[in-house]
Amino acid sequence: MTNPLEPDRATRDLYAEEVLALMHEWYEGVETLDATGVDLDEETLKSFRAPPTEKGRSLEEVLSVVREAGIPGTYHPSGGHMSYIPNAGLYTGAVAEFLSAGLNRYTGVATAAPGFSAIEHGVVGWLCSLFELGEDSGGLLLSGGSMANFTGIVTARHAKLGNDFSEGVVYVTRHTHHSATKATRLAGIRSDQVEIVAVDQNLRMDVDQLEKHIELDRAAGRVPFLVIASGGTTDTGTVDPLRGIREVADRHDMWMHVDAAYGGFFQLTDRGRATLDGISTADSVALDPHKGLSVPFGVGALVVKDEAALVDAHLGRGAYLRDEDSYLGVRDIASLGPELSRPFRGLTVWLPLQLHGIAPFRDALDSSLDLARHGFDRLRGIDGLETPWEPDLSIVAFRFEDDDMGVAALQAVNEDRRVHLSPTVIDDRFVLRFAILNRRTTSDHVDHAIDIIEKTLIG
Ligand SMILES: Cc1ncc(COP(=O)(O)O)c(C=O)c1O
Repeated sequence: MTNPLEPDRATRDLYAEEVLALMHEWYEGVETLDATGVDLDEETLKSFRAPPTEKGRSLEEVLSVVREAGIPGTYHPSGGHMSYIPNAGLYTGAVAEFLSAGLNRYTGVATAAPGFSAIEHGVVGWLCSLFELGEDSGGLLLSGGSMANFTGIVTARHAKLGNDFSEGVVYVTRHTHHSATKATRLAGIRSDQVEIVAVDQNLRMDVDQLEKHIELDRAAGRVPFLVIASGGTTDTGTVDPLRGIREVADRHDMWMHVDAAYGGFFQLTDRGRATLDGISTADSVALDPHKGLSVPFGVGALVVKDEAALVDAHLGRGAYLRDEDSYLGVRDIASLGPELSRPFRGLTVWLPLQLHGIAPFRDALDSSLDLARHGFDRLRGIDGLETPWEPDLSIVAFRFEDDDMGVAALQAVNEDRRVHLSPTVIDDRFVLRFAILNRRTTSDHVDHAIDIIEKTLIG
């Protein structure tokens, strides 16, 4: 009997065909897919936890579980998905992951797969040039924005404070993504070492307040070392005043990290580049290909001005590894971040970009900016709504004169299922938001949700 772990050619073809059939089912319906599925009962949900059997079962049976398990929840591939931060997904990103998982080469150390490591360094180099970080720049691909923020913060801590960081202080605003403040904790920084700087009426970090805070802290013997700016907040897509923050950081010899996990790829567009002005002065930038480029979930990026700082913070060698951490000029990716074993994420970004070129990605981002403008223009003309924040990028946040009305409108939109929205709270007020980043989102989706909101307001 053949070893089932080594399927022959005919079986491999069959597996691929069955999986492709499920993918086709999905892709053929995606243009008209609602944003929300239907709930399953608790018993069915429990059934998905069934442990494996000794002898296994057919792929057909296994895929039928996958098909059913995919039914409930919100559908990121749907153009109606405008909640949280969208990600439509990308067929060619999935093809790249099938290939990289199938080839299963190891990209932690360069000697194991120097060519593949070079491909990944090439992707990172392209990102560094996108932000004009200079010739000493570098970076790596990680699992997402959370890990990119974490790795950036560890690098800043190490570069500015070395081993004794007990008096170090980090500055954020209340709109900084929670993954950044969580990352400070993971980096061994106590919560009383994280200071919240006030924002102005446009929800941007107040640069004067930042400087005052730093001066007071220094006078008290504390050591300000890191300011985390947002290159597009999750709540409202707001970009902090990056140039002003850089000037303050320079005056106090501090590291400036920009969390651009959501907004970073707008740098590909003219409007985004203008809005993100100053991002090239950052010491480190987190940005997510699994948001702005819509590759499958699991690919974030950290780019830094000085690659040596990443290496200083993360280099680790064991006797079982070669002494040098590079091979023919290709550096071990493991020396740049927390992971040793890692998937070949470079291919997930590289293959679609090489195949399609940059233009369709730029066009998709430009169209998100247009749709946000369209949504904002319609919303600001509606009685009973307040639109205090012009969108910097592609998130349109608005509130209701009566918060309860906002809760009712959200419920009405989401119960309809075609569009899915998620709320937030700003200044103790209930705020709804259209987060537009899915290339399948059209003005029909935006208008559909606004029509429901209007109907709720009229009663
Ligand atoms: C601004 C910002 N930073 C960080 C993150 C965390 O990214 P991830 O979910 O990829 O870990 C997000 C997620 O939405 C985000 O919007």
